[in-house]
Amino acid sequence: MKREIRSYVLRQGRTTPAQQRALEELLPRFGIPFSNSFLDTGQVFTRTAPVVLEIGSGMGETTAAIAQSNPDTDYIAVEVHGPGIGSLLKKIDALELRNLRLIRHDAVAVLEQMIPDASLAGLHLFFPDPWPKKRHHKRRLVQPAFAALAARKLAPGGYFHAATDWPEYATQIDAVLSSSPLFEKNSQGKKVRPVTKFERRGIGLGHPVRDLLFLRRQK
Ligand SMILES: C[S@@+](CC[C@H](N)C(=O)[O-])C[C@H]1O[C@@H](n2cnc3c(N)ncnc32)[C@H](O)[C@@H]1O
Repeated sequence: MKREIRSYVLRQGRTTPAQQRALEELLPRFGIPFSNSFLDTGQVFTRTAPVVLEIGSGMGETTAAIAQSNPDTDYIAVEVHGPGIGSLLKKIDALELRNLRLIRHDAVAVLEQMIPDASLAGLHLFFPDPWPKKRHHKRRLVQPAFAALAARKLAPGGYFHAATDWPEYATQIDAVLSSSPLFEKNSQGKKVRPVTKFERRGIGLGHPVRDLLFLRRQK
């Protein structure tokens, strides 16, 4: 997927001293360095288990909660925002999560270069930046090229779970995935998902939240 337009702008914001310490001390322990060769998840997690990748884990509350309640699945969180990464690292340490690791990099490059094809059991995309201005819509992550990339990386039967509080982006995600012959919509399916930090903010503003679930077709 050739692209110069990114789905994020790096605004680091304020990093607390505790987050900074986590970045320095815990990233080497719980982070996976970005690399342009395929990752051996069996080696990373020292076991064979389904692997779910999350794009944009933010402050990581939901990410950590999901990993804690699903110990038989391994999770890779991908995020670029320093304070959020620091915050998630602290949670991995405090909760002693052995099934959650983090990559500090652009998730599109991670998918393309580090994740073997047909290897993921699931992909999470919770409250992606909605880029509400029309001239910024091109920055939205979910576009046809992204759907093709997601389909390539998911194992047959694997799931893509997105959630957004931006109705018009929900419509776009729905349209893009529905028009891919490689996905089928799973309207009845419901994945349990704890409320995320951004979701809480959206709910406070009266935004409706929509979850979208698609399955990677077998062929
Ligand atoms: C609106 S926040 C939502 C965070 C979290 N999922 C939540 O619901 O609280 C979107 C996050 O996605 C991250 N992000 C956006 N594009 C990304 C990309 N290409 N790779 C990694 N992270 C990305 C941003 O840094 C930001 O933290």
